[in-house]
Parts: sequence; structure tokens; C-alpha cells
Amino acid sequence: MKKKIFVTRRLLKENEEKLQSLFEVTLNKDDKIYSPQEIISRSKNYDGILSSVTDPINADTISKLSSSIKIIANGAVGFGNIDIQAAKAKGITVTNTPDVLTDATADIQILLLLGASRRAYEGRIAAETQKWKWSFDFLLGKQMSNKRLGILGMGRIGRAVAKRAKAFGMEIHYHNRSKLSSDLEDGGIYHKDLKSLFEQSEFLSINCPATPETKNLINRETLKYLKENTVVGNAARGDIVDDEAMVEALKNGTVFAYGLDVYNGEPKIHPEYLKLKNIFLLPHLGSATKRTRWDMAYRATKNLEDFFLGKKPQDQVN
Ligand code: GLV
Repeated sequence: MKKKIFVTRRLLKENEEKLQSLFEVTLNKDDKIYSPQEIISRSKNYDGILSSVTDPINADTISKLSSSIKIIANGAVGFGNIDIQAAKAKGITVTNTPDVLTDATADIQILLLLGASRRAYEGRIAAETQKWKWSFDFLLGKQMSNKRLGILGMGRIGRAVAKRAKAFGMEIHYHNRSKLSSDLEDGGIYHKDLKSLFEQSEFLSINCPATPETKNLINRETLKYLKENTVVGNAARGDIVDDEAMVEALKNGTVFAYGLDVYNGEPKIHPEYLKLKNIFLLPHLGSATKRTRWDMAYRATKNLEDFFLGKKPQDQVN
């Protein structure tokens, strides 16, 4: 008998068809975002869930999930939306989708850094409202080429950002839980602590995962370590940054401009971010290419398939 899978969000058509060929599947044709309560009630008596970043599956939700559920395959590389320890304690395997979105996300990170440093938002408004004329001092930004880039979190995406930044002649510095082997580091300069990384960075790329340790890691205290006029990009998670502290830093010139794709409490956006000009915003588009989204759903499906075949899924995270 086919296993029953509850899919929380609409997928690309081909991905849904693949799932239907393997499992008895309930899809979300209207792509409604379910509340935790709806996830609990709708997935009752299912064997697995294919979830997404928009599903907050915390310890309380997990405790109320049907005991028939044995796996949550998150269709994302980040899994900060799921309490993986609570899931483990309940005997639920959790998987993610690494690798397949590394390039797309690193591309967006470069876009964020460029968009912020070259004042793309203000430029767009000036062009749109026809309130501009070329002049030697019109909308001067900060040049990214040949600067020092600090990378916070040198995992797959951080390293892919480094690779791209090198083509801009940037010098790579990074902070990570541990120093990487020299082939992975690839010329990047390791900083044992965040303070020393921030003091060196002219551009800062946030690429660490959202964990209890990284929550509000960018805060009033740590922002003080930055040089004046640093450009910051965040394609990781909103909750790594204390928004109030960032707004202050954007107003007092510690941060020249902030490019971000991810938010605390998405899809809400801190109201000050919508007022400030030295901000470049995108609506969580890091992995938003057709190929990447297809690959993510394919990988989540493969994790479900392997799990129910009795194999350890390649992307198990708990
Ligand atoms: C996207 O944000 C992901 O974690 O895959």
C-alpha cells in the first residue's frame, strides 16, 4: 500500500506528478498557508509531510502531530522552521534540500550586495518618477570591486558567494564555527571570532544557518564592531539580525546599506525597512528559479522515497 504524504504548499506540476506516482498524496492546490493547527489536523493519519519554509513546526506542533507521521521532508536547505530535536524525540526524521540551491542563493547574495551598495532602490525610484539627470555626484554608491568581503558562515552557500566575490577582485575573510581545510577555504582568511571579522569587513555577507545560537547574532553590540559605512547582505534568515539595531545602524552610518531577502516573521517586513532609502529588499527569492525549485522538490521527494524504502535519507538532519 502506498504511503500517505501531506504536502503543505503547492509544488511545480512535474514535482506533484512525481509524488503522486510514488505516494498517496494530498496536495495544496490553492497554495493556502496553513496554520500550525491546520497542519496538525490535516496531516492526521498521514505517514509523512512535505513541508516548506513557511510552515512553523515548533515543539508544541510536533507534540500534537499524529503518531503515524514518521518523516518531515522540508523543501528547503534551512530547517530553522522545524524543531528538529523535538521531532527526533518523537521518532520523526527531518530532512532538508542542500546543494541544489547553493548557486541560486549565492547569485542572489551578490545581487543584494550590489543592489545595496550601488543604491539600486533609489535609482529605480528616480528612473520611474523621471526625477533624475546625470551628474557627477548623482546617486553615488560604494564600489564592491576589490574590497574586503567578510563572510559570516562559510558553508556551501558562503563558499559559493566567496567564489563569485573573487571574480570582483574581493579579498575573502570569514568566520565559521571552525576553520576550513585549505582547499575549502581557497585563500579565504579565517577569523576565530566575529569581532575580528567585522572589524576587517567592508562588505559583509550573512550566510550562516538560523539556529538558537545565531538568533540576533547581528545586534547592537556586534554592529559596533563594524567599520563605518559597511555594506551588509542577508540571504540567510531574518532572525539572525536584530532589526531595531540594524535600523539604528542604517541611520547612524555604521551600515552604508543593507540588502536583504529574508525577514523576521515573514512575510511581514519591519516598517522602518520600508521607509529607509539605503535598503535593497527582495521577497525571499534566494532559490526562486524554476530549475532550483524543481530540484528542491525532487530532492525532498527522494528523501521521502528513500525513507519509506527503509534507507537513511541522504539529507537527514536530526
Ligand atoms: C530557503 O530559504 C531555503 O532555506 O531553502
